[in-house]
Amino acid sequence: SDQLALKDAYKKYFPIGVAVAVRNLHGDEAQLIKNQFNSITAENAMKMGSIQPKEGIFHWKDADSIVSFAIKNGIKIRGHNLCWHEQTPDWIFKGDDGKEVTKAVLLQRLKTHITTVVNRYKGKIYAWDVVNEAVDDDPKNFLRNSKWYQICGEDFIIKAFEYAHAADPSAKLYYNDYNTERPEKRDRIYKLLKSLRDRDVPVDGIGLQAHWSLQEPAENELRSAIEQYSSLGLKIQITELDISIYPWEPGKRDKKQGENDSFTTDLENKQAAKYAMVFKLFREYKRVITNVTFWNISDRYSWLDNFPVMGRKNYPLLFDRNLQPKKAYHEVVNFK
Ligand code: XIL
Repeated sequence: SDQLALKDAYKKYFPIGVAVAVRNLHGDEAQLIKNQFNSITAENAMKMGSIQPKEGIFHWKDADSIVSFAIKNGIKIRGHNLCWHEQTPDWIFKGDDGKEVTKAVLLQRLKTHITTVVNRYKGKIYAWDVVNEAVDDDPKNFLRNSKWYQICGEDFIIKAFEYAHAADPSAKLYYNDYNTERPEKRDRIYKLLKSLRDRDVPVDGIGLQAHWSLQEPAENELRSAIEQYSSLGLKIQITELDISIYPWEPGKRDKKQGENDSFTTDLENKQAAKYAMVFKLFREYKRVITNVTFWNISDRYSWLDNFPVMGRKNYPLLFDRNLQPKKAYHEVVNFK
């Protein structure tokens, strides 16, 4: 019923998570987090660039604050992330001579980073996004041509999972990516995951970022993706859920900066229907879906306000700017 909070309505299904920054951990936002959610992810504070901006200099303050807030309130913690091509400090790819480091040096640095971070939160963080977005968007390519790939080939992916597993053998380890439901990208992500499984790399599951829109994904595509990934024996976590009111395809999405779009009743109804559809599928697949996390708390602030266009207001979440539940919230909580 409507009286139930998200986390209570989904008690028999999966934890319901939210991405946060330290500034969200007081006042009305903190209250909403405590009332509604039972899993938390640091929106930025655990990324490599935030946590090890210089070699050997670790900035734990923000990550620690989020972890202690969660523990104090009985909230599970997902770690995000250990290896990515963005928000990565420049030093990691460069030697003292300013030249690019060798594969051996880069893997050693990756090992030190992952070991140090995973070890600090051992037993506290129950699932880690180990590698983020390593598959390319262009169907002609397989893996993304990042610095990691240029220097290490695909070994950086394998090693990242091995280092994380060695540091905390109990933590669940995820490969995380976006557009995981689009058929051609889905096939390439499947190929990567299958090759990891075939080589006994310690990967437990796939994170579907789920930065969706009113157009995507279609129900059958989401269903096929869940079926295909879980056929490998992998668990699935929905790691960064939001439903944009703008289409993601280039060209259509380019509203101008500062343009004052409004959240019309029509958009609110369409978004509520989309949320209802995806949560119905999540419930149907509760045996393989082990977490559903929203990327931000409410429409007061979403990373989509500044991506892919700066300063374009979006309304992608279940709570409005006053932290009041939207139609989509009621659709998600009221089910039979
Ligand atoms: C985003 C954050 O929300 C922003 O604050 C930051 O400026 C950029 O990164 N995929 C991911 C997340 O895996 O880490 C990204 O988070 C959103 C896309």
